[in-house]
Amino acid sequence: MAKRTIVSMPGDGIGKNVLEAAIRVLDVAGFEAEYVHADIGWEFWCNEGNPLPQRTLYLIEKHKIALFGAITSKPKDAAAAELSPALQDKGLVYSSPIVGLRQHFGLDICMRPCRSYKGNPLNFVRRGPNDTIEEPEIDAVIFRQNTEGLYSGVEWSNPPDKVYEALMTHPKFVKNFSKTPKEELSVSTRIFTRKATERILRAAFEHAKKYGYKSVTVCEKPNVIRETSGMMYKMAQQIQKSDYPEIELWNTNIDAQMMWLTKNPDNYGVIVAGNMFGDIVSDGFAGLIGGLGFACSAQFNPDTGIGVFEPTHGSAPKYADYPVSIVNPIAMVESACMMLDYIDENAMAARIRKAVATVVAEGKVRTYDMMKMAGRPDVVEKGAASTSQIADAIIAQL
Ligand code: NAI
Ligand code: MG
Repeated sequence: MAKRTIVSMPGDGIGKNVLEAAIRVLDVAGFEAEYVHADIGWEFWCNEGNPLPQRTLYLIEKHKIALFGAITSKPKDAAAAELSPALQDKGLVYSSPIVGLRQHFGLDICMRPCRSYKGNPLNFVRRGPNDTIEEPEIDAVIFRQNTEGLYSGVEWSNPPDKVYEALMTHPKFVKNFSKTPKEELSVSTRIFTRKATERILRAAFEHAKKYGYKSVTVCEKPNVIRETSGMMYKMAQQIQKSDYPEIELWNTNIDAQMMWLTKNPDNYGVIVAGNMFGDIVSDGFAGLIGGLGFACSAQFNPDTGIGVFEPTHGSAPKYADYPVSIVNPIAMVESACMMLDYIDENAMAARIRKAVATVVAEGKVRTYDMMKMAGRPDVVEKGAASTSQIADAIIAQL
């Protein structure tokens, strides 16, 4: 195997701990790579006024594949207050480097698999007949459109005159909002393009076909959000009919879907949604398989091949300065497996997943979250495994 160059972006807080653990696992699994460090996160906002420096973009552009831990984000005013004195009053405005990465590289396909590991004490269970406990086996993959919709940043408070005039051409705006002073309006747009919608739908169908899922569920709200959700569902019907007749197309509303999560989560296979609803439904499914310590993700642009692989959790600042890191690295290790799959190292990914599955099933080494403890510095003394002990256990299985 030729040696790979992987951009490594630990970011902030526990991002550093989980990425270090995942790289140790990759090394032992035999992944031959050179890791090039790239700067991202809070430190670079405070000291340089940019949490996503240009040099990091160059590195990703050049090497194409990146592992990412997590970053710390803060609201606009708090961010401005923490800028270094030399950068104050320069009119710098904080924006999330994750959203920045997605938009800069057009990482429009976001994939979030949620698969339950046998023996994980955090798995969702429900009461069955005669006081039995049922543990549905969940294997859902959420495809989230990652660059458009409600997260595209096209929004205003007190919208400019031209925007206001345009809104006033819509009869429903006139009826419901024209009496409200313009200064009291905030507008966030939800824009879908046919191109990006088709790309996420096709990615979802392709995945279902490749891995043998029987259904693709569009999880939106087409009965109410007629234009955007409606367009997505209509396009899904066309694509299914013309190219994937063997796969069933299901249609659920995001609100009902969240309710059904506790009823029949094992019925779903591939789920596809716009940016916001994809974010919501993927967190919902992640909750059923153990929560943030288990929720992994990939985001990529099939045209350029650029891919960024990261756990969906954040930097958990309260644990960042513990002398021994206590957080669960499995979400990061799983994200690294997604990277391996992406570069066709499927056998290696499968081996690592099997090692993780064994560690979880044996239950001898568990982080505080799996032991249902409150996260505190003394959890390791009380029997929880540290971040690096879990990595060691996975490595021992390898
Ligand atoms: P968070 O995901 O950092 O933490 C929430 C809670 O989940 C933690 O307090 C901890 O109890 C638990 N947790 C998170 N990761 C865990 C792990 N690997 N193992 C065990 N438990 C884990 O979210 P929070 O507290 O809302 O945000 C903290 C910071 O992270 C904020 O600045 C936020 O903006 C940022 N953030 C960054 C993300 C990213 O980099 N992708 C995503 C979400 C939040
Ligand atoms: Mg989220």
